[in-house]
Amino acid sequence: MSKKHKKQEKREEISTSEDGASRATAPTSDTSALTDRSLSREEYEAQLHVLQVELVKLQRHFIRCQDRILVVLEGRDAAGKDGSIKRIVEYLSPRETRVVALAKPSDRERSGWYFQRYVPHLPVAEELVLFNRSWYNRAGVEHVMGFCTKEQHAEFMQSVPKFEEMLVGSGIKLLKYYLDVSKDEQVKRLEERRRDPLKQWKSSPIDAVAVKHWKAYSAARDAMLMRTHTATAPWRIVRADNKRLARLNLMRDILSRLHYAGRKDKLVRPDPDIVFEFSPDCLE
Ligand code: ADP
Ligand code: AMP
Ligand code: MLT
Repeated sequence: MSKKHKKQEKREEISTSEDGASRATAPTSDTSALTDRSLSREEYEAQLHVLQVELVKLQRHFIRCQDRILVVLEGRDAAGKDGSIKRIVEYLSPRETRVVALAKPSDRERSGWYFQRYVPHLPVAEELVLFNRSWYNRAGVEHVMGFCTKEQHAEFMQSVPKFEEMLVGSGIKLLKYYLDVSKDEQVKRLEERRRDPLKQWKSSPIDAVAVKHWKAYSAARDAMLMRTHTATAPWRIVRADNKRLARLNLMRDILSRLHYAGRKDKLVRPDPDIVFEFSPDCLE
């Protein structure tokens, strides 16, 4: 993805409310909260702490309001989905927080409606659910690796806006993020992962061929973003090459898009160079 994108984009805030309805409030102007690109560990940890406190406040608010929140994280292998999720949930209530990372579908699941196996994992009242990969597997890995047919892929692309409209219409607050990592960074991280004894569980046969299929994944990503970025369920892009900045700004973006009591607005303003709404002109 190129550096071209609108810095002062319109931001829509989804308010968490008693009636559970999604409402867009007036766009707020957006200025960069973070100009210093080289963030020291101390600074990172201090900012992380502040944002984790805000997330706890957010959770208290939506538990009170009976809200349902769904955060979808997509991105290539090693884009940083796991690490971001880990920091988001670190201090949240385990009862009301779930992380969903489904394994490859069983034969039985494969024979059902494509969305069916995701539906049981959707949030109920008071829950924050984070999907580490989601139904968008059909637009990405399944399409690139040939785990679905061309027809299934085409049908998926048509259905997904309708599916998401139903989710949002039912009152779910849906936030979709695509973590975008460069090829050099992906190569570096996949190599590190193979060497690091604590990260071995992350290595899979799919990762082993991720770089080889770089171009196919790029084309799949572009088609997915073009087709499934809607007013109801927009995509937000996170530049993910700098892990610390990506995590902090992803957290800020989530916090700034959900209303909650006692929000420290200045602290949760994301850097528009790191997180921004998808638009066709941000494709390379
Ligand atoms: P992750 O990146 O989530 O740690 P992998 O790199 O192993 O996991 O796989 C990427 C995604 O591809 C996962 O969501 C997995 O469920 C999916 N996947 C793997 N094999 C298949 C398959 N044969 N059919 C459909 N999906 C698959
Ligand atoms: P609480 O006292 O509300 O924190 O709940 C303690 C445990 O009891 C939790 O695991 C709840 O899910 C469970 N619980 C609370 N109310 C009910 C209920 N009406 N029926 C079944 N389980 C409940
Ligand atoms: C990530 O770290 O980006 C993912 O969650 C794990 C993976 O790369 O497979």
